[in-house]
Amino acid sequence: MTRRIRTVYSIIGVGLATLAWSAFTSRVESQSGAPPQYTAQGELKLPVGFESWVFVGSNLGMAYRRDPPPAPAMMAMTNARETARADAQVFHNVYINPEAYAHFAATKEFPDPTVLVMEVFTAADKQQQPVLSTGVFNGERIGFEVAVKDTRRPPLQPAPPPPAVWQYYTFQDPTDPKSTLVTVVKPEETGFCQACHQKHASKDNVWVQFYPTLRKVQQ
Ligand code: HEC
Repeated sequence: MTRRIRTVYSIIGVGLATLAWSAFTSRVESQSGAPPQYTAQGELKLPVGFESWVFVGSNLGMAYRRDPPPAPAMMAMTNARETARADAQVFHNVYINPEAYAHFAATKEFPDPTVLVMEVFTAADKQQQPVLSTGVFNGERIGFEVAVKDTRRPPLQPAPPPPAVWQYYTFQDPTDPKSTLVTVVKPEETGFCQACHQKHASKDNVWVQFYPTLRKVQQ
């Protein structure tokens, strides 16, 4: 084999390796799927793999003030949420998708789209082997909420909520980790989620003030 032919072979080899690598990486990307993704009815699909997104912070036992006060139709839901949160100290663990984090770190703005996932866990203090003498840890998952900034979201069927930059979702069955769909909060409830976030969260509907990883960027 002449030197020239060997060189051609090695160039082809490098080319093939590069092709194989890019096919592999693009497959990895499409598997994790760029969030957010929706069903044909316009419901948000459960963000997949969020456990490996950027963890922005964890809060324990936060209950919210009624500001703005909920409309009478929302009173029952507000009471239920507040009772659940006040009775039990619960953990809120919050994640952001890595693309949105990178954009926020560079510009201090949340891009369109941005997805934030909040998992709610009981604060457990009992374990099988009684080693703990004090303190609490993340027990059972009892809630799963998602905030999405996305102006290109498909309309929700059959009744699209009013257009909004941010939309709020709650998990159908937060106790079932295999449940794959997230239902959109009903339009009247979305306004309620929206109102508090918009009025009190420190940056573009997001509670940056409570998340050390994002706070660092904004300071
Ligand atoms: C009265 C105020 C208030 C209302 C109403 C409210 N939230 Fe929040 N939300 C908060 C606060 C405060 C946080 C900060 C972090 C925490 O709770 O740990 C938060 C955080 C979140 C987060 C984490 C990401 C982010 O935006 O910072 C999600 C997701 C979320 N809320 C979803 C909802 C949904 C869904 C509803 C309506 C069903 C709702 N919220 C209604 C006050 C509110």
